[in-house]
Amino acid sequence: MRLTDTQLAQFHTEGWLFLPELFSPEEVAVLRTEAQAIFRTERQEIWREKTGAPRTAFAAHTYNEAFRLLGAHPRLIRPVEQVFGEHLYMHQYKINAKAAFDGEVWQWHQDYGTWQRDDGMPEPRAMNISVYLDEVMPINGPLMLVPRSQNAGDLEASHDLQTTSYPLWTLDEATVTRLVKQGGIVAPTGKAGGMLMFHGNLVHGSAGNITPYPRKIVYLTLNAVSNYIRRPTRPDYIAHRDFTPIKTVDDNALSRLAGAHREAAE
Ligand code: SIN
Ligand code: MN
Repeated sequence: MRLTDTQLAQFHTEGWLFLPELFSPEEVAVLRTEAQAIFRTERQEIWREKTGAPRTAFAAHTYNEAFRLLGAHPRLIRPVEQVFGEHLYMHQYKINAKAAFDGEVWQWHQDYGTWQRDDGMPEPRAMNISVYLDEVMPINGPLMLVPRSQNAGDLEASHDLQTTSYPLWTLDEATVTRLVKQGGIVAPTGKAGGMLMFHGNLVHGSAGNITPYPRKIVYLTLNAVSNYIRRPTRPDYIAHRDFTPIKTVDDNALSRLAGAHREAAE
């Protein structure tokens, strides 16, 4: 799969690109079922909200077959290889639950702020790819992006260890207000199976979810191999140290797995 010139231009200008329904309902159903099962388990890779509801499951590609296949899926890997012009490795992999009623806020931040300060990543040559496992609606805590804010570079940030259960380098209100005056805010919504990619310096965040609708999203952080991290401080299930280039699986790998699960259930 290759991005068109129009799609590439939208990414470079606005800092983000949304491809609706990139995965079929069958492919996404197997991922959703597996994510629910993962969130029911207790392991160090699963972080919870202060209420105990699941927040993030890290590194599921290392212990779950469906998420392993997603982490090497050509529909995700090829577009990012196209943007960076080189091979990629997995810097971080997370499933964010944003649970019904209990999903908490993600404060305004840039991802590269954390990758640079906490992991020693030289350049913002890593990209977040989000795959929607549930329908993302205006009401269930969609990801909000500030278009064109990637052009602001690496902004000053403070380390928030209080607001949520996840430490994050967050931006102050004056900075967010200034950037929003220039670029506005968008919240790409859509059915499960959609894919959103955004620049490592794009300012983003999300509000809490007080609706009965969960909003699970998988985030692959794909880093250009030459941009491997130099000074990691976080556990390796959060900031991976395996810089091996990703080899893609077949395009139909997830639908084959869905078929195998169906047969096993019959
Ligand atoms: C993130 O920015 O890493 C996650 C935000 C979200 O899932 O809403
Ligand atoms: Mn982020």
